[in-house]
Parts: sequence; C-alpha cells; structure tokens
Amino acid sequence: MKQREISAAVIRRLPRYYRYLGELLQNDVVRISSKELSNRMRVTASQIRQDLNNFGGFGQQGYGYNVEYLHNEIGKILGLDVQHNMIIIGAGNLGQALANYNFEKVGFHLIGIFDTNPRLKGVSVRGIEIYMMDMLDEFVATHQVDVVTLTVPKRQAVEIGHHLEKIGIKAIWNFAPTDLNVSENVCVKNVHLNESLMTLSYEYRAMHTQGEENGRD
Ligand code: NAI
Repeated sequence: MKQREISAAVIRRLPRYYRYLGELLQNDVVRISSKELSNRMRVTASQIRQDLNNFGGFGQQGYGYNVEYLHNEIGKILGLDVQHNMIIIGAGNLGQALANYNFEKVGFHLIGIFDTNPRLKGVSVRGIEIYMMDMLDEFVATHQVDVVTLTVPKRQAVEIGHHLEKIGIKAIWNFAPTDLNVSENVCVKNVHLNESLMTLSYEYRAMHTQGEENGRD
C-alpha cells in the first residue's frame, strides 16, 4: 500500500479506529458501514471516509468496511504488526504501574526495568526483573531495545535522554515533565496526564456554565 503524506490529526485518530475495530472484531463483526462506525465512534461518517481515504479507502461503496482487514491495515500503518521490545527506566510508582500493565496487546514487549535505588535490585514486576542503571549499557548492547519508557524524576530525565541517544536508542516514551533535548534522530513522545485533566476541567466548566446560562433563561 502506498502511503501519502498523512496529517498529524489523522494519525492521532488512527489509534481510536484501531481500538474500536478491535472491539468489533472481538464481537465477531465482519463488516461495518462508515455510518455505523460513525455512530459508535461519534465521528461523522464523512470524517471516517476522508480519514481512511488517506490510505486508499479500504472500503467498497455500498459494502462497508471489512473489519478484520481494516484493523490489520491500520495496525500496519501504526507499526503494530511488528513487536517492539521496551524497557522502563525509573521503577517508582508510575514505572511499576506501567510495568504492571500489559502493553503486549499492542505489540510492546517489556524486557527490562532499570532504576538506581539499590532496594529495588532484583525485585520483579510481573516477572520482569529490575536491574540497576549500571547494567543499562550492557543490556542495550546485548538486547534489541526499541523503545524506552522514561519514568524518572524531572531533574534526571534530560541527562538520561542524552545518554540513551548516545547508546543508540531511537524511541523514548517520556513521562517526565520536561523536554528531553535529544536530536531529531530520536523519536520522543511526551505524555502529560495533567494536560488531559486540564482539558477535562475546561470541558466540565464549560458544560456547567452553559447549564447555568440555560437555567437563567
Ligand atoms: P517515583 O519517585 O515514585 O519514581 C521515580 C523512580 O525513578 C524512583 O524509583 C527512583 O529511584 C528512580 N530514579 C531516580 N533517578 C534515577 C536515575 N538516574 N536512573 C534511573 N532511575 C532513577 O516517581 P513517580 O511518581 O513514579 O513519577 C515518575 C516521573 O513521572 C516523574 O518525573 C513524574 O513527574 C512523572 N509523572 C508524569 C505523569 C504524566 O502524566 N506524564 C504522571 C505521573 C508522574
């Protein structure tokens, strides 16, 4: 499949399509029209058609989409058809919570956890051992590490980011609330749960303000 330049907005919506289609697959749904998909996803049918047309459409006029095919193709576009090995650096509250979550479903296989706290040495989370940071370079040299999840305190994150680039890491899922300042050769995705909460706060307030205004009429 030939891929055109895809807008960031479309790429951001793909995981959601992937998730909904995965649920449909689990419920043995074979075909779905863009209208039905739009009802479930609360996105307009034309938005769905436009989004999927970016990748060649996948659907046949009047027949809807083949759910399994579409799910697989979106998975391929997102790179989920290949398994990625992941390590976590920072085995505190967040690092351990993430380690306990099963990201294998979307192709991310956790192979190691690293920390500096000697009390964590040899402890396992979901069967995966926590190593000390002085083992990191050797580990990366002897294992294929595709993605690093970074859950260390802010003040350590930038330095670790530089080090990760130096030892050849190409993708960082960064939870530390700071920019990592690595070169463009490293793909960084920052995650800020706070931002999502702030958006919720905004929408919550807007809803209430609207309710109050309606009440006033
Ligand atoms: P925590 O203090 O429980 O865990 C941090 C861990 O990092 C500790 O186990 C510590 O020993 C380890 N660590 C410290 N320096 C290290 C180094 N140089 N190398 C390896 N490990 C090192 O903190 P928590 O609550 O787990 O938060 C971790 C990070 O995630 C913080 O930066 C926090 O601000 C951030 N965070 C981000 C969220 C988000 O939405 N992006 C949400 C919650 C936390």
